Amino acid sequence: MKKLFCALFLAACAGTMSAQEVVTVAVHPGQGEQKISRHIYGQFAEHLGTCIYGGLWVGEDSEIPNTQGYRTDVLEALKRLNIPNLRWPGGCFADEYHWMDGIGPRAERPKMSNNNWGGLVEDNSFGTHEFLNLCEILGCEPYVSLNVGSGTVEEMAKWVEYMTSDGDTPMAKLRRENGRDKAWKVRFIGVGNESWGCGGNMRPEYYADLYRRYSTYCRNYDGNRLFKIACGAGEYDLNWTETMMQRVGTRMNGLSLHYYTVTGWSGKKGSATEFAKEDYYWTIGKCLDIENAIKAHIAIMDKYDPKKRVGLMVDEWGTWWEPEPGTQLFQQNTLRDAFVAALSLNVFHKYVDRIRMTNIAQIVNVLQSMILTRGDKMVLTPTYFVYEMYKPHQDALSLPLDIDTPTREVRGDRTIPLVSATASRDDQGRVHVSLANIDADHARKVRITLDDMSVKKVSGTILHSRRLTDLNTFENPDKIKLRPFKDAKYRNGAIEVDMPAHSIVTLEIE
Ligand code: AHR
Repeated sequence: MKKLFCALFLAACAGTMSAQEVVTVAVHPGQGEQKISRHIYGQFAEHLGTCIYGGLWVGEDSEIPNTQGYRTDVLEALKRLNIPNLRWPGGCFADEYHWMDGIGPRAERPKMSNNNWGGLVEDNSFGTHEFLNLCEILGCEPYVSLNVGSGTVEEMAKWVEYMTSDGDTPMAKLRRENGRDKAWKVRFIGVGNESWGCGGNMRPEYYADLYRRYSTYCRNYDGNRLFKIACGAGEYDLNWTETMMQRVGTRMNGLSLHYYTVTGWSGKKGSATEFAKEDYYWTIGKCLDIENAIKAHIAIMDKYDPKKRVGLMVDEWGTWWEPEPGTQLFQQNTLRDAFVAALSLNVFHKYVDRIRMTNIAQIVNVLQSMILTRGDKMVLTPTYFVYEMYKPHQDALSLPLDIDTPTREVRGDRTIPLVSATASRDDQGRVHVSLANIDADHARKVRITLDDMSVKKVSGTILHSRRLTDLNTFENPDKIKLRPFKDAKYRNGAIEVDMPAHSIVTLEIE
């Protein structure tokens, strides 16, 4: 097997890969140990550009069809994704956000300048009630990012009380005056965001102490148990993780990590829609490098917390391209972005003993969004369809697998696999295997074995389009969509799959 792998590797390097070479994937349905937390499929809504205003919220008086002020088209599309949690209000915005500005009658709410994102006027019409009610409509858990950078301990403590206290407390009374009788359930709170950067430019030693202080006063009210997430590192800042584990340890429930697939090999961000094949492969290499970052942070966490009580929460990730001119980080989304989504999720599935949550940035109209809107128009992005086809992996048992795949050398010293796979088993015994044929040019045969599982039925869906630069636009919104996949056949004890070049498939095996 080693020899075969080497031969394939050399062929790939020499650029002579043939379409006939078979990739083998050995899935072990009986060896799953841990669930893929559905929270790995979390989303992120930030007051940035048109994510909130225009994207999620248009207000009750808008001509755009809405349900209590939320865009009806966006709500319906998001409901189909089974979103487990939604992070809000930032990002960088969170450490300048003062929650009391966003409660009470909307017309009376003070305005502020959104200093992180273009200095645009934020009228606070989307605040705590609008966010938490949205989570209820979507059936997801809120993840509220609290202000450490420019907020006080008192302000933070009172926000938690306002949202979660059902008693006769001052903040619960204020909430009732504002029209909400029962407290919301809010489990996930973030204590600061990127405190090493836009969240206060702090050193880890200083932030560790602040975390201890601020989080102390975030109380559990009336049966609501908080899951406290500390600000973690960006990319490879291992010193941040080391300091936090040393000085905070299990006083936090989760430690975040931010990792963006940002900049092309030229060192510039690059266009979201115009790119060459080499750029595509470079992006895949940068995206897959998240695994090395994750492993390095986990190794430190394991040293201080061998029982894995603290979760690693990758609460910002995704592609980051040049924004469209005249916008705040609004970017389009091609089939290349779909690969970044699928491959990142495949990596997260491998570390479920430590990774408890991830949040792709951002849900609508910003970086690697699920949905784009313009006026009353809406398009679903290729990334949306990856989230749709990966839904069966939520809360399913992560299954180990062995894959033999050719690889490719990428400019900048990276080697990438040409096929990636992940597998899980749901509570009805069905196995789902997601496969990505990363190869831009060659179709690929994949042979899947499943130990002694007896296979009665195989069905699937595929995400594919002629060019990697293909995308859905407001003029042509249905160019890329999920289609039924028929090219998987069970024969001679294995499932044989014929994958077109640059395609993503999820199989359901019963
Ligand atoms: O996602 C955009 C920004 O990236 C977020 O606000 C911030 O946390 C990160 O730097």
